[in-house]
Amino acid sequence: NWTPAHFIDDTVAALQAKIGDDRVLLGLSGGVDSSVAAMLLHRAIGDRLFCFFIDNGLLRKDEFEQVLKSYDGMGLNVKGIDAKQEFYDALAEISDPELKRKAIGKTFIDVFDREAKKLTNIKYLAQGTIYPDVIESVSVHGPSVTIKSHHNVGGLPAKMGLKIVEPLRFLFKDEVRRVGTELGMADHLIKRHPFPGPGLAIRILGDITPEKVDLLQKADAIYINKLREYGLYDQVWQAGTILLPVQSVGVMGDERTYEQAVALRAVNSTDGMTAEWSHLPYDFLAAVSSSIINNVKGINRVVYDISTKPPATIEWE
Ligand code: XMP
Repeated sequence: NWTPAHFIDDTVAALQAKIGDDRVLLGLSGGVDSSVAAMLLHRAIGDRLFCFFIDNGLLRKDEFEQVLKSYDGMGLNVKGIDAKQEFYDALAEISDPELKRKAIGKTFIDVFDREAKKLTNIKYLAQGTIYPDVIESVSVHGPSVTIKSHHNVGGLPAKMGLKIVEPLRFLFKDEVRRVGTELGMADHLIKRHPFPGPGLAIRILGDITPEKVDLLQKADAIYINKLREYGLYDQVWQAGTILLPVQSVGVMGDERTYEQAVALRAVNSTDGMTAEWSHLPYDFLAAVSSSIINNVKGINRVVYDISTKPPATIEWE
């Protein structure tokens, strides 16, 4: 019968046999899957695992610094790469969701490939692909919506002449989390909500600017911190904030305001294929709303998304 400990022993042995004395490169996303894949490989081949963690400027507030720190704490050999401006340039004036994904995927490959060329003797590219990703790539949603962050490197192995290693290919998410716990990973990494590869780019409706990213990051940080504060974070499968491309009228003191609106999204799901909106308590929603409106200059309205998937999707783009 399957246990995390057996899985780790078997996989480490198989990785050692397969990789031998070669070197492996892995792109970390900050998420559970790539982190667990990295830990397994690190256990198998130690410092012959090289990791990149790219800041695409579309992560949550302070996430790059915080996650990089926890990777260091796990003993991983990680290079943090600041490519924010390159992604913003690639996204300039693009509003179409699919074009955003394409621009981000292409930029990711460019940055990754350029950095990889600075390393020598890499033979393998490791990915955190899990079983649902393998199935989802043939799902009814079509390839564009289901492209996951690690699929962004889909064109890379061929381009770089690398072979692929996918140690989690036959695991489901809950199994990945159990393996992570067994490997000693911190709870805050293991229990993180899923986060899309294109990040905040698909939560800013319309075109992307660094100013809009900053506005959304501030509102989103308030929402996520309040979820933790109220003990609701672990009861929700995924949550996020969406910056809407509308302005509406409000009053602040004696002043009339004409500012932007954000939508809060929280869903319960098992695999993201179907989802129900979370019935978050009214007092919680009230606290988030007033904190965002009082603290984030430029936002004067907060709405809660009560749409089920299907027919809506979890993300708005
Ligand atoms: P939807 O919006 O399709 O989202 O209901 C289902 C799950 O997939 C995530 N998602 C993505 N993840 N690249 C990703 O890595 C993407 O382009 C992408 N689009 C959606 C979404 O966050 C949810 O967990």
